[in-house]
Amino acid sequence: MCGIVGYIGYRPVVPILIQGLKRLEYRGYDSAGIAVLDDRQQLHVIKRAGKVNDLATTVESLPIPSTIGIGHTRWATHGVPNDTNAHPHTDQDRRLALVHNGIIENYQAIRTQLLREGYQLKTETDTEVLTVFIRSFYDKVGDLREAVRLALAEVEGTFGIAIVSPLEPDLLIAARRGSPLLIGLGNNENFVASDAAAVIQYTRNVIFLQDNEISFIQQGEYEIRTIDNQPSAPEIFKIEYDLEQIEKGGYEHFMLKEIFEQPTTFRDACRGRILLEDGNVRLGGLRPVADKLQRAQRLIFTACGTSWHAALVGEYLIEDLARIPVEVEYASEFRYRNPVLSKDDIVIAISQSGETADTLAAIREAKLRGATTLGIVNVVGSTIARETDAGVYIHAGPEIGVASTKAFTSQLAVLSLLAIYLGRMRHLSPEDGRTLLRELQAIPEKIQQILQQAELIQHVALQYKDAANFLYLGRSYNFPVALEGALKLKEISYIHAEGYPAAEMKHGPIALIDENMPVVFIAPRDELYEKILSNIEEVRARGGKIISIATEGDHKIADVSDHTIYIPRTLPYFTPVLSVIPLQLLAYYIAVERGCNVDMPRNLAKSVTVE
Ligand code: AGP
Ligand code: GLU
Repeated sequence: MCGIVGYIGYRPVVPILIQGLKRLEYRGYDSAGIAVLDDRQQLHVIKRAGKVNDLATTVESLPIPSTIGIGHTRWATHGVPNDTNAHPHTDQDRRLALVHNGIIENYQAIRTQLLREGYQLKTETDTEVLTVFIRSFYDKVGDLREAVRLALAEVEGTFGIAIVSPLEPDLLIAARRGSPLLIGLGNNENFVASDAAAVIQYTRNVIFLQDNEISFIQQGEYEIRTIDNQPSAPEIFKIEYDLEQIEKGGYEHFMLKEIFEQPTTFRDACRGRILLEDGNVRLGGLRPVADKLQRAQRLIFTACGTSWHAALVGEYLIEDLARIPVEVEYASEFRYRNPVLSKDDIVIAISQSGETADTLAAIREAKLRGATTLGIVNVVGSTIARETDAGVYIHAGPEIGVASTKAFTSQLAVLSLLAIYLGRMRHLSPEDGRTLLRELQAIPEKIQQILQQAELIQHVALQYKDAANFLYLGRSYNFPVALEGALKLKEISYIHAEGYPAAEMKHGPIALIDENMPVVFIAPRDELYEKILSNIEEVRARGGKIISIATEGDHKIADVSDHTIYIPRTLPYFTPVLSVIPLQLLAYYIAVERGCNVDMPRNLAKSVTVE
């Protein structure tokens, strides 16, 4: 998920790699490393947890004469971020060094096979497994290029990789499936990078590798083939944009980029976890607590902010699909109110950063009281991930915008998987499991369809940019989405907003409604649809402005709304993943229109590590 840079040419390679890694720093990372071949074809690998600058200091003190090498910034998905797990990885007698972005899904099976064959592994990463797997093929076929190709053909998951090897000291190998990778074409020198930011100061001519392509790159030439060994006809592009644009992937803000990443990040959260045939789910991280989960009489979620909203959706999902009672607790309240807990309880922390002080304290409190603790976390190796008994990573990649977007939908993906997993341990039939999983697989495409309406949403946003207040109303699964929509608007546009269960409106907030009050209704076609239509009428009768999020094809709602934004049809359990997208975009465009600093709103921090 993070950064790769590679070089072969005539210039000293170390400064190029360090400079390239610095250019990739904006993506967020936890460790960095380089591997270079010196002029005597000796392989040097230097890597460490922490900042690129720390790595730079170390390499500066050991000048290595070299013109070929690879570098990496890691954003851990398997194994804590430490010096050993950092990339590049090597096989046991250092015949090759490899850097990798992505996730090897079948690494456990390959690992078992390699250990059986007598290979040694020293880290916890999927990447080392891939490295040694390639080495095992080399031992069989005696040809590095062929070994890489054969290994990649058997690997499942996503990868962008770059390899250097003393076996072929004039060769850089790069390949991709699912993770971006490009070749930068220079004059008597070539580059590899996971994004153009790392090479743009040297060349603007690039080839974007396609999925399942592998390239063999030398100083003055390159060859691209498919992994099944067919020749490819690459197209050369000229990069026209500047560095800042590249960092944000061409988007104006990280938040917008992250909103648009959601089809991919949702898919990544489900990757390798759906067992369609069995109508079941594989959550490897929960294996140690599977028995406890099977026996659980109740679950308690604890979280803050957006993660707390995800927990509320989780409550609906698990109670519906697995029939286990669930409680959702603000982490900050939970620890101070003498919670009743026993050793049969399972407390699940949800946190993007894995470092939120309140959530961490809640988990520590739960542990003290004997409960089992689990984490649903984005940042691998973060404190919450380390301190919980077991857990599931959401694999959303670094989230840089302070307002959480893609982490929320990835949390919902994992909570949906968890609900199905728990349901299948109980009464949920394989057939029902299959129906749910098939629909989960269709979600990324449906998110994409909503993103295509960004312009329409921007148009709506323009009309409400000067509003002083907003109300967000939803029912059932979409009540937490109403809370989330309101939070997004508050955080980045500084407009006061409240989220409510739609039916609660008549118990108080209805007094606020007049012609200056925009009300966002999240009203998909579900069993409460008719009821929410009545709530819309109540607002209309008092002159409020109505923005509806509705299921496509629903014309009835358009007749009673000032604006209607459609989302594709899905099962009620999964509507939050879709209905939240227009609300993220609405908040974003209103904030931009008001000239707010979207990525770094005032008074807020990405990770709240104080009480
Ligand atoms: C979300 O947009 C917020 N910035 C904030 O509410 C956040 O969700 C909360 O601080 C929890 O963070 P965590 O998920 O990293 O624990
Ligand atoms: N899965 C690999 C790891 O955890 C690569 C992570 C990345 O993309 O940075 O080391």
